[in-house]
Amino acid sequence: MIQPSFNQSILRGFIPLFEEKAEAMVRGLGEMVNAGQTFDIYRFTARCTLDMIFATTLGTDMHIQESSTCSYLDVLEELFEIVTIRAVNIFLHPQWLYRWTSVYRNELKALEEFCRPSKAILYEKKTSLSPTESGKQSSLVDQLKSSTLDNEAIEHELNTIIFAGNETSAMTVANAILLLAMHPEVQEKLYNELRIHFGPMVQHIHHETLNRLTYLEMVLKESLRLLPIAAVIGRRTTEEIDL
Ligand code: HEM
Repeated sequence: MIQPSFNQSILRGFIPLFEEKAEAMVRGLGEMVNAGQTFDIYRFTARCTLDMIFATTLGTDMHIQESSTCSYLDVLEELFEIVTIRAVNIFLHPQWLYRWTSVYRNELKALEEFCRPSKAILYEKKTSLSPTESGKQSSLVDQLKSSTLDNEAIEHELNTIIFAGNETSAMTVANAILLLAMHPEVQEKLYNELRIHFGPMVQHIHHETLNRLTYLEMVLKESLRLLPIAAVIGRRTTEEIDL
């Protein structure tokens, strides 16, 4: 149902927004480097991807990167922790038992916070959505609203995208940066590729240019191979398959 929202022309329309948000992240990182402080790179990549994902899915600019703290990010991290705690503890698997635990109560609280932004957009601001600063591209929620889905289904889709899309992207970029720092010769080669295609400043990014960044693609793929984001996939085969 949501597949049409991920077509090439829609994704391309978001490139200016991605550029604006990535620039904000690079500025923030630059400030840390200038101050000579140690920092957790994931806090930067995750606030950047959250800004991107809220703007693309909900059509609102949350300006998360403008603040050094982000309670929504804390809620997301808590939810991932709860999923992991439950997955590795067999006693927490049966729903009837899980419902009596403090982990379940924490999950309910965290879920309420997690769902708040999409609920607010869907139920409180029904008429018009505030456009993002740089993008005229309509958001996922705009597109889903003109589909046959009811509000509950739309909310579900939005929350799935926010949950599935944020941490994966943020961790991929954070890991790639870490690996680049560990392999300066690769960093140099990548830097040269960017210089060739963009000159001294990476700005006004075009889709065609992105397609030419073959070394960048190799770096990202190799980072995902070395440090997989989704190393485990929870699926049950329902019939015999040939691999
Ligand atoms: C490096 C980045 C990413 C990785 C490695 C990744 C990986 C995965 C994997 C392994 C699955 C499970 C597939 C399966 O069960 O067969 C999945 C599902 C999914 N991903 Fe991603 N993903 C990434 C980024 C994103 C982004 C950016 C979005 C959205 C904007 C997204 C949205 C989804 C959705 C909607 C699902 C399906 C969830 C469901 O079945 O309920 N992912 N992803």
